Amino acid sequence: MTRYQQIQDELGANPKVWLITGVAGFIGSNLLETLLKMKQYVIGLDNFATGYQHNLDEVRSLVSAEQWSGFHFIEGDIRNLEDCRRAMRHPTAGSGAADYVLHQAALGSVPRSVADPITSNATNVTGFLNMLVAARDAEVKSFTYAASSATYGDHLTLPKVEENIGKPLSPYAVTKYVNELYADVFARVYSFKTIGLRYFNVFGKRQDPNGAYAAVIPRWTAAMIEGNEVLIYGDGETSRDFCFVDNAVQMNILAAMAPEEARNEVYNVALGDRTSLNVLFNALKTALGNCGVSYDKHPSYRDFRMGDVRHSQADISKARTRLGYAPRHRIYDGLDQAMPWYVQSLGSRSLE
Ligand SMILES: NC(=O)c1ccc[n+]([C@@H]2O[C@H](COP(=O)([O-])OP(=O)(O)OC[C@H]3O[C@@H](n4cnc5c(N)ncnc54)[C@H](O)[C@@H]3O)[C@@H](O)[C@H]2O)c1
Repeated sequence: MTRYQQIQDELGANPKVWLITGVAGFIGSNLLETLLKMKQYVIGLDNFATGYQHNLDEVRSLVSAEQWSGFHFIEGDIRNLEDCRRAMRHPTAGSGAADYVLHQAALGSVPRSVADPITSNATNVTGFLNMLVAARDAEVKSFTYAASSATYGDHLTLPKVEENIGKPLSPYAVTKYVNELYADVFARVYSFKTIGLRYFNVFGKRQDPNGAYAAVIPRWTAAMIEGNEVLIYGDGETSRDFCFVDNAVQMNILAAMAPEEARNEVYNVALGDRTSLNVLFNALKTALGNCGVSYDKHPSYRDFRMGDVRHSQADISKARTRLGYAPRHRIYDGLDQAMPWYVQSLGSRSLE
């Protein structure tokens, strides 16, 4: 039995109270779906900056009425300390106190942070600090937060090992690195130990395909479904370690339940593979073809974008050995799982 299966059994027998910030977003709503299906109590906090009510509605449609009744949503802003404190309590579950915090709320996207570093900093740094303080004061059992592979910055060696980072290449990368610094200081000063998850290009259902700051997989998928041009910044040999969202969900749950000696650490969340944008383009065409969507255009190449890292690939051995991480989905199988959702949701809902 894997560590993940063992934890799922334990939680099923003894439900806990979880707080997910950013619950209306992509990763947050996938965490919500999994935890409710595991019959957990969940508090969700979101201000809908980049998340959507329709993500919550979709989760509701995928769980039973009884499971959904364990969910308590708070519309609030992590930049406001009182909202963070309010989110530490569930009105109907057990003692009501949050046991585990999964902090996902942030403004993602490197280009967004280049265009507006002040708002990214307020959410990602001040909001993060508010959440740390509120969780510390509420004496939660664990605090797991979304860090980022952007923290490797200009460090060139592959694969990326947690201990070796470079200089940040964007305001977004600075904010995520500052999260790690605050987390470490909270362990030293207040004995409040957290776990940071350095996500590497997570993808899957409910990842937003809209807007200027959409990630590459949903943006290209939407373009292909609508028959539009796909833009590649650079020569297409830029590469990423694309990670299906179910693997990221597994890592959050493993981290939340990690033993004391595995805390006050950061972990890569990825597959340990590297896929170029040119290869990804063809993989998406194939996966959409399997859903009956054909696309016959060639990609259009543009200049490299400011702040983008050239190559990214994780070493995931630390997560494997210390948390028992065993990713269950490789990129092609993740794309096959995600594509029907895009075909269905983009077909039934006009792009907003
Ligand atoms: N998706 C990836 O590949 C990836 C990679 C590295 C890091 N991350 C990090 O993972 C986390 C989740 O990312 P995602 O892809 O699900 O993004 P997302 O934009 O879909 O979700 C973020 C959620 O946070 C909410 N939010 C933003 N500002 C807030 C505020 N001030 N108060 C309350 N809620 C707020 C948004 O409304 C949204 O629902 C983020 O911290 C992001 O930086 C994601």
